[in-house]
Amino acid sequence: MHTVTKVSAMQRLARDWRTKHLRVGLVPTMGYLHDGHLSLVKRARKTVSAGGIVVVSIYVNPTQFGPGEDLSRYPRDLARDQKLCREAGVDVVFAPDDAQMYPGRESGQYSTYVVEEHLSKVMEGTSRPDHFRGVTTVVAKLFNIVQPELAVFGAKDFQQAAIVQRMVRDLNSPVKIIIAPTVREPDGLALSSRNKYLEGELRTQAVALWKAIQKAQATVRGSSQPLKATSLKNQLRELIEHQAAARVDYIEFFDPATLQPLASVQRGSHLALAVFIGKTRLIDNAGM
Ligand code: PAJ
Repeated sequence: MHTVTKVSAMQRLARDWRTKHLRVGLVPTMGYLHDGHLSLVKRARKTVSAGGIVVVSIYVNPTQFGPGEDLSRYPRDLARDQKLCREAGVDVVFAPDDAQMYPGRESGQYSTYVVEEHLSKVMEGTSRPDHFRGVTTVVAKLFNIVQPELAVFGAKDFQQAAIVQRMVRDLNSPVKIIIAPTVREPDGLALSSRNKYLEGELRTQAVALWKAIQKAQATVRGSSQPLKATSLKNQLRELIEHQAAARVDYIEFFDPATLQPLASVQRGSHLALAVFIGKTRLIDNAGM
């Protein structure tokens, strides 16, 4: 396995693979890898098969963080990530820096962004304006640089995966998007690099998101008729905020095909939630 830090070197490699007709799978990440990320790597490896190439990109993308968010303290450990990637059978780690990805951005000389205008407006898009503009821009750039046949994303970030799917469709990008299931801790907490921020009691209280999901699933599955979204959301909010350190940012029931909010909830509806546990903002989602 080797690590590539220059865009030009990554493009040279990609061109080389293309002339050899090798299958290439990409797993975009911001690093500080955990078993959720590694499940995407496994999926990429399985799909491109033994002779294919698996690339993991590790880049904490500044354009998807808002002012006052955790860009500067986002956890980083490239040496550990490289070791995990080597053990997982990754061929290339692409780990560029800001000067490589956004040359001139500090001085206003970087000025092109990719914007999805519809699915980006709800849920995470309401709480984090410009977040998805940063995501679609960096993902489009990574696709241009690595030229993969397929890319694997996690259902943990359901809205992000839907927006990336929409982007490739709308822009005729020849990349197949694969979505892999959410990997969880034994107590149900979805794995996330941000879980590193949760110490002691905060870690215990973070299970509230999963408790709320389970409660919603049990309620919806136990009901013979559609339920009012507002009253279900209120119940879930109460359940979550029963934990002293928990504050709900949003709870939304939506149609998984369109991401549009639902007034009534039934089997097949999807739930997404964002909750602050202390200062740490966690998101999770699941089908009903
Ligand atoms: P990051 O949060 O590092 O996540 C990288 C990929 O891992 C995403 O597709 C995410 O959905 C997936 N993932 C995270 N936690 C997971 C879990 N518990 N189970 C399964 N998959 C999980 O998402 C990003 O980075 C960035 O926005 C990125 C797409 C790399 C663009 O910068």
